[in-house]
Amino acid sequence: MIGFSASEKERFEKALGDYLREDHPLHRELADAMRYSALSGGKRLRPYLLITVCRMFGGDFDSALPYACALEMIHTYSLIHDDLPAMDNDDLRRGRPTNHKVFGEASAILAGDALLTRAFEIMLSEESVSAVGAQRALKAASILAEKAGFRGMCGGQAIDLAYEGKEITPEILLSMDLEKTGALLSAAAGMGAVLAGASRDAVIKAQEYAENLGVAFQITDDLLDLTGETETFGKPIGSDLENGKSTYVSLYGADGARAQAQLYTEKAKAAASFLPGGGKELQTLADQLIRRTY
Ligand code: IPE
Ligand code: IPE
Ligand code: MG
Ligand code: MG
Ligand code: MG
Repeated sequence: MIGFSASEKERFEKALGDYLREDHPLHRELADAMRYSALSGGKRLRPYLLITVCRMFGGDFDSALPYACALEMIHTYSLIHDDLPAMDNDDLRRGRPTNHKVFGEASAILAGDALLTRAFEIMLSEESVSAVGAQRALKAASILAEKAGFRGMCGGQAIDLAYEGKEITPEILLSMDLEKTGALLSAAAGMGAVLAGASRDAVIKAQEYAENLGVAFQITDDLLDLTGETETFGKPIGSDLENGKSTYVSLYGADGARAQAQLYTEKAKAAASFLPGGGKELQTLADQLIRRTY
């Protein structure tokens, strides 16, 4: 099993659901669309990473929880928009019809926007801030703002779209995966570390782990897009080929991509070994993620 224990998962799911419970008679459709995607399962990898790193540096689950929920909301928004016809045009996500298939494109766009902004509302609420202290809260929110934006996830998504049907260089491919996928994982590790008051050097090491993990994670995702089973993967197989995506698989072939995934997993583990306790849990996570089928 990847990530949270059963009891931690339950606490996480409850907190996320509670943050999205608010209803308003005029906004019911929007709230339903937000909940549909946010509460539809998923590995919860980023929140797990945030909380694991936070604990590694002496922080606790409860005070990190709002930040973990905020991060998962931004991840969910990125998935909703990634599936839109203007981007990857996919019909299946986490084993269910994609958000725009159920609620329509306009509502899916707004649900993504509202999840993104709700994330900042939660991180900067008086309750979340007072649990960790203003300085740590601001640092965490600022890391997430940077990693989700044009120097992070959005920037990587822009490269992904720009290179559809075009030849990509190894350097640009690496930048793309570091940004579109590594950035939110780096946010998870960085936020967890700053919330626990880790030193600057430790924050950088934790983020180095997460960036390399992110590249390996995206390569594995690209391999599963080719060789996975829809049932377990929960997403359409062959979407990347259909869209002419530039990936490690398209550039190096499946075997070459597998070797690269292993290489970035080793780089991630090497960075983790400098963290408290040799980063044991993070090393295990890296090994589990490269073997996943979903
Ligand atoms: C999917 O992320 C998007 C990629 C970066 C490949 P996950 O594989 O973490 O998706 P969920 O949250 O488990 O559905
Ligand atoms: C990563 O790439 C997507 C995001 C950064 C949201 P993919 O387009 O391969 O992700 P999936 O396969 O649709 O989850
Ligand atoms: Mg995509
Ligand atoms: Mg996609
Ligand atoms: Mg994919």
